Amino acid sequence: MFSAPSAIVEAKAVEFYYTGEETSASPALSGINLAVKQGEYVALIGPNGSGKTTLLKLFNALLTPYTGEVMVEGISTDCEEEISQIRRMCGMIFQNPDNQLVATTVEEDIAFGLENLALPSKIIRQRVDDVARLLGLEGLLRQPPHLLSGGEKQRVAIAGVLAMEPRCILMDEPTSMLDPAGRREVNATVRDLNNNQGLAVIHVTHFPEEAAAADRVVVLSEGRIVGQGPPEEILTDLEMIHKLGLQGPAAVELAAMLREDGYPLAPQLLYSRELVDSICSLERKS
Ligand SMILES: Nc1ncnc2c1ncn2[C@@H]1O[C@H](COP(=O)(O)OP(=O)(O)O)[C@@H](O)[C@H]1O
Ligand SMILES: [Mg+2]
Repeated sequence: MFSAPSAIVEAKAVEFYYTGEETSASPALSGINLAVKQGEYVALIGPNGSGKTTLLKLFNALLTPYTGEVMVEGISTDCEEEISQIRRMCGMIFQNPDNQLVATTVEEDIAFGLENLALPSKIIRQRVDDVARLLGLEGLLRQPPHLLSGGEKQRVAIAGVLAMEPRCILMDEPTSMLDPAGRREVNATVRDLNNNQGLAVIHVTHFPEEAAAADRVVVLSEGRIVGQGPPEEILTDLEMIHKLGLQGPAAVELAAMLREDGYPLAPQLLYSRELVDSICSLERKS
């Protein structure tokens, strides 16, 4: 009998070398075990060169492991004939929206992947309209993508992925080229898709506040997972975060300074609101 795989994407004992063989150079990834379930929102953090992009590309079957196995919905990414199916189930959003938009209008762009599947035009029209409505892009469908804001462009790229009816969306620093308004727009869109459509998300980010919004934070360093857990555990461990050359959320950094100065704040404060509430509820010791 068919039983549904418990994980949407899973890496099992994965090791990866860009040279395609074991070399004296250290592997880009090593000993990676990670499973992401339906509806889970995972933030992937780590210094430059720690292997974040490589891991996303393994989940998207752009790369295949040297040892170990990567599964998408129970299908190994080693199965050549399943690669297009895997890419549909596990769509990827990159840093620069300009590199992902290929057509002359927004609607053609959203339809691009569907056209390649040679679906009937009526179905393509329906899916484009559905995702446009879901992402609030109805008014932009006939616009040329280059006239859109950064946040709108990234939402069009997300719409193109969504039109393929994926189970998981992989995002590689999708907001790093956007202004704060664009960043909020994209983060709210993805959060909404995760909450309401049950889409699993793996979000690579350098913004601690984005990682704080995830269900789980996974920390990579030198190709290995060196920590994972709920954001309030991982992102408040400033000793570990700073050792990796990263920064904690602003509220966590501030809370640490205030504690040093003698303010007995509640532990594991993650958000500015919590910090303010904690400050307002205490009197300074000594
Ligand atoms: N195309 C490539 N060819 C050879 N080495 C690469 C390539 N891409 C990345 N690397 C190396 O693999 C390691 C992991 O890189 P990457 O996954 O891009 O890290 P991150 O996304 O965390 O910055 C780094 O040491 C990087 O130099
Ligand atoms: Mg990267």
